[in-house]
Amino acid sequence: MFAKRTSWNLAPNRLSEALAAHRAAGKPLLDLTVSNPTECGFEYDRSAILKALGNPDALSYEPNPRGLESARRAVAGYYADRKEEVSAEDIFLTTSTSEAYSYVFRMLCDPGDELLIPSPSYPLFDFLAEIQDVSLVRYPLLYDHGWQIDFHALEQGITPRTRGIIVVHPNNPTGHFAKPAEMAKLNALCSAREMAIIADEVFLDFALDGSRAASFAANRGAPTFTLSGLSKISGLPQMKAAWLVAGGPQQWKSEAHGRLEVIADTYLSVNAPVQLAIPKFLEQRHAFHKQVISRVRRNLAALDRQLAEQSACSRLAVEGGWCAVLRVPATRSDEDLAIEVLSSKGISVHPGHFYEFPSDGYLVVSLITPERTFAEGSSRLLSFF
Ligand SMILES: Cc1ncc(COP(=O)(O)O)c(C=O)c1O
Repeated sequence: MFAKRTSWNLAPNRLSEALAAHRAAGKPLLDLTVSNPTECGFEYDRSAILKALGNPDALSYEPNPRGLESARRAVAGYYADRKEEVSAEDIFLTTSTSEAYSYVFRMLCDPGDELLIPSPSYPLFDFLAEIQDVSLVRYPLLYDHGWQIDFHALEQGITPRTRGIIVVHPNNPTGHFAKPAEMAKLNALCSAREMAIIADEVFLDFALDGSRAASFAANRGAPTFTLSGLSKISGLPQMKAAWLVAGGPQQWKSEAHGRLEVIADTYLSVNAPVQLAIPKFLEQRHAFHKQVISRVRRNLAALDRQLAEQSACSRLAVEGGWCAVLRVPATRSDEDLAIEVLSSKGISVHPGHFYEFPSDGYLVVSLITPERTFAEGSSRLLSFF
């Protein structure tokens, strides 16, 4: 009685089983995979956040498929602070970046149409695409003193059914930004072949060297959807506030906006208290950003000090985001390795294959892990090799 698209294998993988057994046995665990910012010891202005949710205007209902104008203006202000000109008219509010993806997928793709996605990248795409009947085609990112798009392979992946190219900027977990030359090539490819760029910028603000990478939100060179939200920018994933910016050539934009309005109007999914709070939630980003960047830098420095004392493992260059990728001896599958590290050292790490690394020998750790846990955990992890 169920649709084939939901016939997933829902059995937990071996690592999840091992983790559950470890926890059930009450064994100590140093978790180097934490990604929920509300559980990482960051300080939030609790009263400002809660007060923002109590706006009396929330007592009346003003349905608007794009979302309340006050909230969209605040999002446009976020881009203006980054010196990017984005009109509030191009912004559609959603409950999450994941929901924004679903709007875009629905709008661009008939069943079986294809989207190109980077590999490695974060694992949610498969479910997002399957639920929308979209086929994903992976294009490789190459690592050579830093990550870059393999444009040759990307072009080979384009078929008459390709509707767009997803770029995660900066990517999770590799932490690299799309460079201006890559953005120009993406524009050329997409405008020539009537495809869209779909840019996921949830980590855009988290450049380690304090630089400010250009956003795709003001891109005019090709049809472009730019997705972001408060789950990472302000560390408020529980508030379910995100957006997509539909920008690009004017004629395409008008057509795209009309279609998006119908999709958004069908759900009107973002609730009024949260929309009204978005300007205040965006203000929280400054204090949150400061704490995250300082923690990420300190954790990375601690990791580098420990890596310098051994020769079996190294880390890949990281430009931004919340993760570090470790190159470790590929003596067994990454999943077996993560299980053994858990059972022998009480450390939880992500195996590279979660993110579709091209071979074994990669582990991923979260740089927003509280510092003492990170220092102790990474030291124990390295002592495994
Ligand atoms: C690259 C990337 N995009 C999107 C998301 C999901 O964001 P949201 O909470 O807005 O759905 C994540 C979550 O980790 C992510 O890593």
